[in-house]
Amino acid sequence: MEKKIMYSAVQPSGNLTIGNYVGTIRNWTRYQEEYDCFFAMADMHAITVRQDPADLRRRTLELAALYLACGVDPNKCALYVQSRIPQHAELCWVLNTLTYVGEMERMTQFKDKSAKHADNINMGLMDYPVLMAADILLYQSDLVPVGIDQTQHVEITRDIAVRFNNRYGETFRVPQALIQKQGAKIMSLQDPLKKMSKSDENLNASVFLSDDKDTIIRKFKRAVTDSDSRIVASAEKPGVTNLLTIYASFAGITVEEAEKQFEGRGYGEFKLAVGERVAETLAPVQAEQKRLLADKGYLASALQAGAERAYKAARKTLSKVHRKIGFYLGE
Ligand code: TRP
Repeated sequence: MEKKIMYSAVQPSGNLTIGNYVGTIRNWTRYQEEYDCFFAMADMHAITVRQDPADLRRRTLELAALYLACGVDPNKCALYVQSRIPQHAELCWVLNTLTYVGEMERMTQFKDKSAKHADNINMGLMDYPVLMAADILLYQSDLVPVGIDQTQHVEITRDIAVRFNNRYGETFRVPQALIQKQGAKIMSLQDPLKKMSKSDENLNASVFLSDDKDTIIRKFKRAVTDSDSRIVASAEKPGVTNLLTIYASFAGITVEEAEKQFEGRGYGEFKLAVGERVAETLAPVQAEQKRLLADKGYLASALQAGAERAYKAARKTLSKVHRKIGFYLGE
């Protein structure tokens, strides 16, 4: 039986947090064994907000090295940089003609980002979900593992795919979002009602994958909990719930098991244990990422192999699309 096709991408903007690690990156290693995977560094999405060029390039490589350090194997999946495959932009253009301005204006992320970057509400920011649809549909993807905040984008991708198929005939596979149940949503350590974000102004709110052990432990020690000292997950205790979720995700156990493990313990001991667990898990990944970043030749060849594989698949879909919509293809 043919393997299902999986697509995912991450933006090389800002520092990645443990939320990204738990929600996406770590699972890619598992998925590459099961599916035919395309994993991209979404630099074209990243430029919808202002980026310093040198930082963007450096982060793109850091991100690639991070995936490889986490065990993503360039021989098993196509790990590539989005902008190197021109078909993403080309398909985006076609899909734009099947997408309504009104529905883009109503997208949650567009509204949030417009508020945050009020001085730069550019066309790309509004078109972001269509580019994402192009990413996914270009590879005839079946599955799209994403964090919960991206599910609306996968929904619109499905709508666009169905619209295209209805108008021009069966062309795209209609993909499905694959939402991580546990640890899909890691919240801010300072305001546990808010998602942990790579761009939080409060530096104690987010734990970055690049943080060293002391920093990680310090941030967990300062994490917001509440006055009642029971270590249980509940809606009234979002801070404690978040710490339990993080611990469970890093220890590979359920939240209930984590609750049992910390029953009767104090907050101080609990927070230290969470911090140590996270630091211990990240240490080998950080060391491997550093080693890979020093080996630029290897990184370049891994990304080249990924781009070649992606290019082949992308070209096939785009030719089909151009044929269906009636573009002149030459003789
Ligand atoms: N928008 C996604 C994010 O910020 C990244 C992304 C770009 C993506 N293209 C994608 C995710 C296609 C899944 C599929 O997390």
